Amino acid sequence: MQRVEQPSGSADGAILTEGTTSHPHEQRHWGALQAARAARRNSEVIILLQSADLYSGLEGLSRTLRKEWPDTQAFAWTIPAGGAAQVAHGVRQGHADGVIEASGELLTPETGAPVTPPSCLPVAKPSVWLITGGARGVTAACAIELARATGGSILLAGRSDETPWPDDLPLTNDLKTLRGLLVERSRQAGQRVTPAGIDRTARNLLAGAEIRETLQAVRAAGAMAAYLPLDAGDSDAVADVLSGAQQRFGAITGWVHGAGVLADRLATEKTESELRRVFSPKVGGLMNILAVIDPLQLRHIAFFSSAAAFFGNKGQADYAMANALLASAGRSLDRSLHAARVKVFHWGPWAGGMVDSTLASHFEAQGVPLISVDEGARIFVNELLGGAPDQVELVVGEAWATS
Ligand SMILES: NC(=O)c1ccc[n+]([C@@H]2O[C@H](COP(=O)([O-])OP(=O)(O)OC[C@H]3O[C@@H](n4cnc5c(N)ncnc54)[C@H](OP(=O)(O)O)[C@@H]3O)[C@@H](O)[C@H]2O)c1
Repeated sequence: MQRVEQPSGSADGAILTEGTTSHPHEQRHWGALQAARAARRNSEVIILLQSADLYSGLEGLSRTLRKEWPDTQAFAWTIPAGGAAQVAHGVRQGHADGVIEASGELLTPETGAPVTPPSCLPVAKPSVWLITGGARGVTAACAIELARATGGSILLAGRSDETPWPDDLPLTNDLKTLRGLLVERSRQAGQRVTPAGIDRTARNLLAGAEIRETLQAVRAAGAMAAYLPLDAGDSDAVADVLSGAQQRFGAITGWVHGAGVLADRLATEKTESELRRVFSPKVGGLMNILAVIDPLQLRHIAFFSSAAAFFGNKGQADYAMANALLASAGRSLDRSLHAARVKVFHWGPWAGGMVDSTLASHFEAQGVPLISVDEGARIFVNELLGGAPDQVELVVGEAWATS
């Protein structure tokens, strides 16, 4: 963050205050997106205000809108009570997004340089780690690397069931091949099947196999591993499963929040249910887990955000907001939990997880290099355990800052 001179005066444009209400996160962020759509009709400058007292991610929206609506200037400012008048000064000075502190001081974010991993890794004590999304996708690779570095107990949480692999099916990790095998097996058994049913069965089988593979790899890397079937966005399930897990394994002392889904669509067409789907694992999961674990026991916290939160990204207004909200929660937890090391990883695209072959070719065509899974997992562990304690947010990988 960079300090800005003392403010004065006012600026023209639409000032939207939806982000300063005390509505639930999803409603507040959806309200801000709707207000921005309406304001765009008459205003070339849109200033989104959000309260410094709440976890918020409206800079994810302003940065995305600046890319999606090049004819509109969208800014997000974080203000204390009564701080709205000072925003105009910051905007007139040419700062897009910023924070006004209770003292009246203005801070504006600076883009972080891509991370290069530190060379030596201090030893961390074994802990009880909760890793949401850790049984599958890129977070699974991070869980395995973490197991190698710290041992301890690693609890991997995800929605999928550990569906067993049928004895009569050859092993494969290719969806298309597995669909073909299932169709053939049903045909031989004289069963009627639908393409949707076959696809569902195949995906469930692959998810079960991926979970078992991660559990085995975590154990082979030297940690105790358990799988917690859990929808992070379901508060009852989180309370139930995590209470039981802590009775069994002890208090959670390390938390990696990697659960996430995408529902990409331009801001003008985005629906409320898409925004809620994207917010559920990241933001709902954040709040549900904080309500069940004892934050004072935490020694390490890692949130998986995206470079979309830092730079904005076309089609990802909801995802950028949800990730920017995680960053705001990370900064707040870092200030309040003195015994915990907090890291928010704004990842560029990986060569894995939600980046399928179509997306990978898209990034390749844009000249954006992908983070290899091994390198990403190594950066994750080195930064979480050995990175600078006072650096909470990291942008990793060469992101699409200018696109
Ligand atoms: N891959 C990238 O290039 C990239 C870039 C930037 C940021 N990230 C972030 O990194 C994290 C992992 O991404 P990924 O690429 O590995 O995606 P992925 O392959 O789609 O994996 C997503 C993970 O989240 C879990 N998950 C989703 N919804 C959940 C819920 N409601 N409750 C519990 N678990 C849930 C999934 O398990 P189940 O399906 O079994 O629930 C899975 O383990 C995400 O937070 C993503 O935003 C990834």
